Amino acid sequence: MTTLGAAIIGCGAIYPLHAKAISAITDVNLLTVVDIDVDKAKQAGIEYACHVTDDYREILNDNHIDVVHLCTPHYLHAEMAVELLHAGKHVLTEKPIAVDLPSAKLMLDAAVKSSGQLGVVFQNRYNDASIYIKKTIDSGALGKLLCMKGIVTWHRNESYYRDSNWRGRWSTEGGGVLINQTIHSLDLLQWFGGEITSVKGSVTTDVLDDVIEVEDTAHACIDFANNVRGLFYGTNTYLENSPVELELVFEEGTLTLRRDYLYLWKDGKESLVCQPIFSPTEGKSYWGTGHKRLIEDFYDHIFSGRKFWLDGSEGIKALELVKAIYSSSQRNK
Ligand SMILES: NC(=O)c1ccc[n+]([C@@H]2O[C@H](COP(=O)([O-])OP(=O)(O)OC[C@H]3O[C@@H](n4cnc5c(N)ncnc54)[C@H](O)[C@@H]3O)[C@@H](O)[C@H]2O)c1
Repeated sequence: MTTLGAAIIGCGAIYPLHAKAISAITDVNLLTVVDIDVDKAKQAGIEYACHVTDDYREILNDNHIDVVHLCTPHYLHAEMAVELLHAGKHVLTEKPIAVDLPSAKLMLDAAVKSSGQLGVVFQNRYNDASIYIKKTIDSGALGKLLCMKGIVTWHRNESYYRDSNWRGRWSTEGGGVLINQTIHSLDLLQWFGGEITSVKGSVTTDVLDDVIEVEDTAHACIDFANNVRGLFYGTNTYLENSPVELELVFEEGTLTLRRDYLYLWKDGKESLVCQPIFSPTEGKSYWGTGHKRLIEDFYDHIFSGRKFWLDGSEGIKALELVKAIYSSSQRNK
């Protein structure tokens, strides 16, 4: 088996999850970390004994780097991914794939023409509960899926936005609670429900309107081609980061995710069908714990030459749903 060289661009909040996951994979070496904030890059370089730079373009011609992880602000994903894919690198980008659909499509085009693969981090698809739900839908074990709901009530305060030079603005974050925090749950709803036929939604800024340009609260009614209906509510205005709540009603039972535990209600009885794996090294609990699994799987596909399933065309779907909610809210249609 060959060895792969990896680089991470962006050494902020999410970077440690990527660095730890890479370090745990045999035959993958984290060689370079990049950040325009030199102190952050240096710190990361010391921690992982790797090369440090503040210019990601250095990676383009570095033949030792095969895989690049994008842990940068949203508006940089597309520009960086396109250049890296043109240079033949594999790119694993954090969510959202991009701030808008035209930029995301440029990434998909670049991936088609590249010898490298494009992967998108939606780590909650790797949660045991998500996999259980998806299998239940696909196998028909509980009959047909009828409807589902997703509720995300999290807390992002003034300083979360004021201390960041890219969050809270349309041009750099691409939106608010929808594109940043609740995109994971929207991704799960669209993954479970399949093809979407109509979206009616609304966004507001309920609390932070003096601080941010973007929304802090949103809801939507999502109809799917198979007549499944999805309801969604998400906000950053709660005073707690509550675990995401999901409910999926089937012809023969109901699956409910509460505190990351999945329960089945069937024939008048509730049973626990899936419990989460908690690990203190894997970031904040409400981010989900799937980063390690997703990153291992991405490398597994690269090593074996198989196409990674959570690629650009999968990763763009959640952004399409996010944009549909914004568009519906704007037009009240
Ligand atoms: N999957 C998840 O659950 C999850 C959780 C948190 C963040 N994220 C995503 O990770 C990404 C980064 O978020 P974060 O919270 O770590 O942000 P952050 O602001 O904490 O970190 C971003 C880093 O990128 C650096 N940077 C900015 N411009 C750069 C450039 N041109 N070249 C190199 N480095 C540059 C910044 O200096 C900063 O250190 C976002 O896409 C975010 O949505 C995902």
